[in-house]
Amino acid sequence: MNNETVLILDFGSQYTQLIARRIRENKVYSEIVSCQITLEEIKKINPKGIVLSGGPASVYTKNAPICNKEILHMDIPILGICYGMQIGCQFLGSAVTPSEKREYGKTICKINDNTNLFQSLGNEITVWMSHGDQISDLPEQFISLASTANSPFAAIKHKSSNFYGLQFHPEVTHTPDGQKILYNFLYNICGCSGNWKTGSFIKESVEGIKKQAGNKRVICALSGGVDSSVAAAIINKAIGRNLSCIFVDTGLLRMDEARYIIKTFKDNFDIDFHFVDAKERFLQKLKGVLDPEEKRKIIGHEFIAIFTEEAKRIKDVEFLAQGTLYPDVIESIPAHGGPTASIKSHHNVGGLPEELGLELIEPLRFMFKDEVRELGHELGIPDEIIWQHPFPGPGLAIRIIGDITFERLEVLRNADKIVIDELKRSGLYRKISQAFAVLIPLGSVGVMGDERSYENVIAIRAVETTDFMTADWSEIPYEVLRTMSSRIINEVKGVNRVTYDVSSKPPSTIEWE
Ligand code: XMP
Repeated sequence: MNNETVLILDFGSQYTQLIARRIRENKVYSEIVSCQITLEEIKKINPKGIVLSGGPASVYTKNAPICNKEILHMDIPILGICYGMQIGCQFLGSAVTPSEKREYGKTICKINDNTNLFQSLGNEITVWMSHGDQISDLPEQFISLASTANSPFAAIKHKSSNFYGLQFHPEVTHTPDGQKILYNFLYNICGCSGNWKTGSFIKESVEGIKKQAGNKRVICALSGGVDSSVAAAIINKAIGRNLSCIFVDTGLLRMDEARYIIKTFKDNFDIDFHFVDAKERFLQKLKGVLDPEEKRKIIGHEFIAIFTEEAKRIKDVEFLAQGTLYPDVIESIPAHGGPTASIKSHHNVGGLPEELGLELIEPLRFMFKDEVRELGHELGIPDEIIWQHPFPGPGLAIRIIGDITFERLEVLRNADKIVIDELKRSGLYRKISQAFAVLIPLGSVGVMGDERSYENVIAIRAVETTDFMTADWSEIPYEVLRTMSSRIINEVKGVNRVTYDVSSKPPSTIEWE
């Protein structure tokens, strides 16, 4: 789509995604592909540069992942990082052996050459290492650009080809000048101009969707979350009322959420909007169900059934739009197992496309979350939607421990609203990754007025995380917790105790169920 692309060949590093993000933050479009991409595919993409990622293997072992050696002779600048450096060096005649000492963590790197990669970076920088192998012998055709106490060849360049290597990881924040090193690679070595902008993405994406969908009908399950909202807004811009959005009120949404989503979309977009009030239906199905996994299964199944029924009512539908993001897509790329670099379609609405026989449109499949937020802003989606915390598909059902009833949902909705309102009022909402209330129908003893009460407990959960795989509980100031607690106990009928969840993930999860 974009004429300035940097390809990242993935050798299985846990940081590959980070490399892609850092390059895009430098305003250059980047894409991750399998390390087994063919020369023909590379030529077709015509990248300005190639990055070889790190990886967990050792280049000298039998089944180590490799790329086609000929990429080194394609006249495209290449930057190898860690494993990527080692494989490039091995191809170019250097020896890679296990290091005497594994190097892990921050270390000082002395720079011998302040041209190209290290331009304007001085004599010494802090870098982050994580490797057990190293270049043990650097043949004459290489230049050593930098060294650390344990790695004499911490950065190298091949004299006659356009190959550069870094033993350390410039993509992690523990290498404070990493972004500048990548900038130097992109701009000084690859000659990029920095034309990656979300604005131009919208324009190109709209053109692409117009071509793909023509005057056919597209349907979209709108959840009100940032991803499906932005996907719908882009498609709407491309094909107007040929996009039909289906919004299902499961009754498991937060306070006023359904009303807000309907109003936002009706007011801001000329969209064919289908609202399904399925509150009763979900409650019926969930009656007496206590097991969290069972709740999830029922909700997922019911959602698909309702969506399918509604979709069948809409005539001549040929496409299904999804708000799939790049991290989901990357997870489905075989790092070094797959024979091609082609990226599989990611079906995130369990089983829908097969059943309906629809083709997928995924306008955000090459975008990271922060980029999606930027797009949302440009498309006129309100901040309330763009910056909202993630909300799970099963909604409040997995935040009510035990039986789900309308009354319990109301208690939770009221308490949750107070938690969120107070975070917003204290300016903490955007700092926290996810916060919510959980209803624990314990029957806690309390005194209210002169009477003994025996009522529910609300737990407040607030976490900080970048990837939601690990998370730490957020240190909300006591005053804010105090206000939340006193408001919940005073204003929410049926609650006489509030607790704050101070568990990190792992071993706990973010949600309680
Ligand atoms: P956990 O509880 O696993 O949550 O630490 C991690 C992130 O995933 C969300 N989550 C879900 N999202 N369906 C979803 O769409 C689910 O069943 C589900 N369970 C957890 C959770 O809110 C958090 O952001």
